[in-house]
Amino acid sequence: MKKLKTLLTTTFKGFKSKGFNPRRYLEMVDVELEHDKDGVHYRLAERSDIVALLAIERDVYNGDIPWTFSHFEHEIVKNNDAFFVIAELSGSVVGFVGTRINHHGADAHITNLAVFKAFQGRQIASTLIGQLVQLMSLLGKSEMTLEVRRDNTKAQGLYRRQGFETTKILPQYYEDGGDAIWMVKKLRHEN
Ligand SMILES: CC(C)(COP(=O)(O)OP(=O)(O)OC[C@H]1O[C@@H](n2cnc3c(N)ncnc32)[C@H](O)[C@@H]1OP(=O)(O)O)[C@@H](O)C(=O)NCCC(=O)NCCS
Repeated sequence: MKKLKTLLTTTFKGFKSKGFNPRRYLEMVDVELEHDKDGVHYRLAERSDIVALLAIERDVYNGDIPWTFSHFEHEIVKNNDAFFVIAELSGSVVGFVGTRINHHGADAHITNLAVFKAFQGRQIASTLIGQLVQLMSLLGKSEMTLEVRRDNTKAQGLYRRQGFETTKILPQYYEDGGDAIWMVKKLRHEN
């Protein structure tokens, strides 16, 4: 991976001039979190995006919203150890990923991920996860973790392609009694 040294990208300066404070971890390294790929625009989520994130949840979970407005608000606005990155197509939010730094900064946990059904299969989720992996490597995190439903083989396949491995089963982790699997990706530090 290319070594990136500069502190604070112009992207983040741009956010600041609009009165938006990037999460504090993002101020440490120069990673192009805001960028375009295959016609999709990727950027940090703001509070005003939460309604769109709820619509994506309803779409992919058949009307359910496992995360409420307050959950998203906490991780996007209040918790300085967390942030969301979103994917936009023609100005509309079509996907998101959330992450939180845990254990006094040692590792990062992927908290949430979804892409509107109509826009799945375009590698939007892969790009979102890949970007987080790059960022967390640059920040010197030791590993990334996540939990995923045991029967969600599509998401598991995506995570495996990104280098995550299953390390344990979490029996009856979900409210409906479903099991989760715990996946971990060890990070190599190249900076
Ligand atoms: C899981 C989810 C986020 C994937 O989003 P996505 O944008 O469609 O993901 P991607 O396009 O990056 O990858 C999915 C497909 O693209 C293809 N693909 C992705 N990366 C690829 C690669 N490097 N090479 C070849 N094909 C690839 C695959 O065909 C894959 O389909 P498959 O999983 O059926 O094999 C989406 O299905 C979703 O929102 N699901 C509901 C919510 C959910 O389950 N979230 C995860 C909770 S832990």
